[in-house]
Amino acid sequence: MNFGSLSLNQSPDISIPLRFFITAPLFAMAAMVLWLITGPPLLQERWLPQTLAFTHLMTLGFITMIMIGAMFQLLPVISGRGLFAARYTSLLIHSLFSAGVALLAYGFFSGHQSIMQTALILLSLTFVIFLPLLTHALFTSIASNDAVRSMRVAVVSLWIAIGLGVWLLSGHTGMTYLLRNNTPLHIAWAAIGWVNIMIISIAYQVIPMFEVTHDYPKVISRWLTPGILSLLIIWSALHIWLQQPWLSFTLALLICLLLLTFISITLHLQIQRKKFSTDTSLYFWVTGIIGLFFSMLLYLYAQAVNSDLDTAIGMSFIFGFVVPVMNGMLYKIVPFLVWLNLNRKLAFNKPRIKIPNMLEIISNKRCMAQFGLYWLALVLTILYFVKPDWFFYPAVIAWLINFAVFWLNLFGAVMIYIRVSRVVRS
Ligand code: HEM
Repeated sequence: MNFGSLSLNQSPDISIPLRFFITAPLFAMAAMVLWLITGPPLLQERWLPQTLAFTHLMTLGFITMIMIGAMFQLLPVISGRGLFAARYTSLLIHSLFSAGVALLAYGFFSGHQSIMQTALILLSLTFVIFLPLLTHALFTSIASNDAVRSMRVAVVSLWIAIGLGVWLLSGHTGMTYLLRNNTPLHIAWAAIGWVNIMIISIAYQVIPMFEVTHDYPKVISRWLTPGILSLLIIWSALHIWLQQPWLSFTLALLICLLLLTFISITLHLQIQRKKFSTDTSLYFWVTGIIGLFFSMLLYLYAQAVNSDLDTAIGMSFIFGFVVPVMNGMLYKIVPFLVWLNLNRKLAFNKPRIKIPNMLEIISNKRCMAQFGLYWLALVLTILYFVKPDWFFYPAVIAWLINFAVFWLNLFGAVMIYIRVSRVVRS
């Protein structure tokens, strides 16, 4: 692993990112329980409140939760500037956000407007604190490399996505009109602008670092995400002021071509990597990158034949691309943080105590077992779209077990940290 460009001494206390990483799989499990309770209609009727609850348990509770934790961890080490008072702000943001997402899901599920209004307040508070802190840390960072520059693009997108989300939610709570014409904008800025561009930014850093590949070509890491941002801005302006479906489709096609560039270069770098050994994190990343390709193909096919495949596109984007990438990312970052923080604690206190290495912290055998579960759940979900009655329960239960095992693997690493830390202190 080459950490050349990192200032590891800036790495924050392990509890700061871990509280986000360990909470995320619990929200994914809650989404599966909701799917189990609601049944097959959840994915058949896009505007069902339960579907909106399911979507945000995954997009906020799982994906954005991990990304907030990753920002608290990665920013100090790659840009030399962390988020202000991270020890306290991370605790505040984690509590407000977890309560806000839980109440948003329950508000959608129960239809209680007062609960949705409380969720609106908690989520607005979360982002009124988190967004300025993150924006300040990114735009005043000491080091200005391509990963940091791309993260700036992702954060601009998050401001827009959250602004639209809060506006839409206030429509659902009766505080304003529900302008459903804003929903495609919200989805585009949230899914492409925030999630996709943030994953690209993190890939610029962690793929060469953890998979020991060559760096991304300079012209790509410098211009790809600003290119996507510019196209998203033009696409949004067209959506608001000039409904020209062929023009919107052309812009969407250009965005897909840029994403295809990222997909092919990432797969090329991974195939050409300098380190021959493979590990589960690499398999998860490769699965996710191919998943992005398929969700893009599904989107272009749906546009070309003018059929409504929105739910299948959303599911393949979230479960075929983002979930495996998050899985692969955490299977490298969490054992590394446990190893790094134990070394920091031990170096001075008890140099003779043996520190477990990263493969002892979460064994490749446990990761591979979960990778198998992930694929089982994915295949059963594809079969569910063919035969919902037969594969509904097997698919949902497989996802529930998959996220439970993912959580147990991460929690196991936390327990190793606590146990060895106790030995240090004794
Ligand atoms: C504070 C944060 C957010 C709030 C308050 C929020 C609120 C909402 C609301 C109220 C809707 C329904 C709109 C309608 O009825 O037309 C919606 C739809 C949606 N949101 Fe969010 N959202 C937030 C963040 C996000 C994020 C970060 C993502 C993705 C990464 C996301 C993805 C989606 C998707 C995909 C839909 C469409 C669901 C469907 O078509 O079934 N949201 N959001």
